[in-house]
Amino acid sequence: MVFLTRIEHFNAAHKLYNPSWNREKNEAVFGVCANENWHGHNYELYVTVKGEPESDTGFLMDVKKLSGIIKDQVLEKLDHKNLNVEVDFLKGKMCTTENLIIGIWNELLPQLPKNVQLHALKLYETPRIFVEYSG
Ligand code: NI
Repeated sequence: MVFLTRIEHFNAAHKLYNPSWNREKNEAVFGVCANENWHGHNYELYVTVKGEPESDTGFLMDVKKLSGIIKDQVLEKLDHKNLNVEVDFLKGKMCTTENLIIGIWNELLPQLPKNVQLHALKLYETPRIFVEYSG
């Protein structure tokens, strides 16, 4: 079994704000991320697929094709967007890194070729904070 990882990047704005709480409670729970006037992050997304290399190419998957799928299915929807208001798959959810990585997984999973499996995603919100998800 071979594991292949492609790293992609996007920028996006969000806020962490539960509308059923008042401002004081939101600030107590979410700190500076509750800023009502939004803030941004430079996200790094690691997409790892797995499988066996094909005999004719020696590739598990053409990495340009993997990059194209990530761009079409994920980056087009997220890059330079406001996650709270512009992203269909986050509608009605808190825009945490946890919910974001689950949404990205669900967008990517049906788009991969049949000979590869989606193994894991890793999403950095800052250089020192990341989440991992494997379905
Ligand atoms: Ni934030």
